[in-house]
Amino acid sequence: MAKGIAVYPGSFDPPTNGHLDLIERGSKIFEEMVVAILRNSEKSPMFSVAERLEMLRELTADLKNVRLDTFDGLMVQFAKSIDAKCVLRGIRAISDYEYELQMALMNRRLEPSLETVFMMPADKYSYVSSRLVREVAQAGGPVKGLVPELVEQKLREKLDPAYKLEERPVIDSPKRRKKKA
Ligand code: PNS
Repeated sequence: MAKGIAVYPGSFDPPTNGHLDLIERGSKIFEEMVVAILRNSEKSPMFSVAERLEMLRELTADLKNVRLDTFDGLMVQFAKSIDAKCVLRGIRAISDYEYELQMALMNRRLEPSLETVFMMPADKYSYVSSRLVREVAQAGGPVKGLVPELVEQKLREKLDPAYKLEERPVIDSPKRRKKKA
């Protein structure tokens, strides 16, 4: 296990199974991991920072060496402020690489002592992104398997505030009624 703190920065709007996969992988490698949500990433995010924090808190509750934080401004400054030695980022496909390389090199220029480490999520999540999840959910499509169940439920509640899973009446379909009889 690598000594010291690693920071895993991102927007997490919303957290996906790909993020979770990476957090779990990172937590097995690094002594301590700080998942850091950028506070001003988008002008109109779907979930507030507080909502994202709450989701991530529940989703990472079992990972004892993972903690959560938020940051503004330069990531490298935040990393320095928590004494992180390295930055963890996920690379899903070659298309991610160019942007990630640019960002890693810019961060290195800003703070040469901070190393960026890339990890790959499970291949089943290689096409999953928060942006696509938002797009599919907003258009009423299914996101099961792409995000944790908790996030799936929060998406439903966000997009249809009248929807509350536990308050939903169980509608008996004719097929089910037939089966029961
Ligand atoms: O989940 P995302 O949106 O891909 O994460 C991008 C993030 C938050 C890691 C990146 O935009 C970032 O670090 N922003 C903070 C501002 C900063 O440090 N910019 C210089 C990086 S080259």
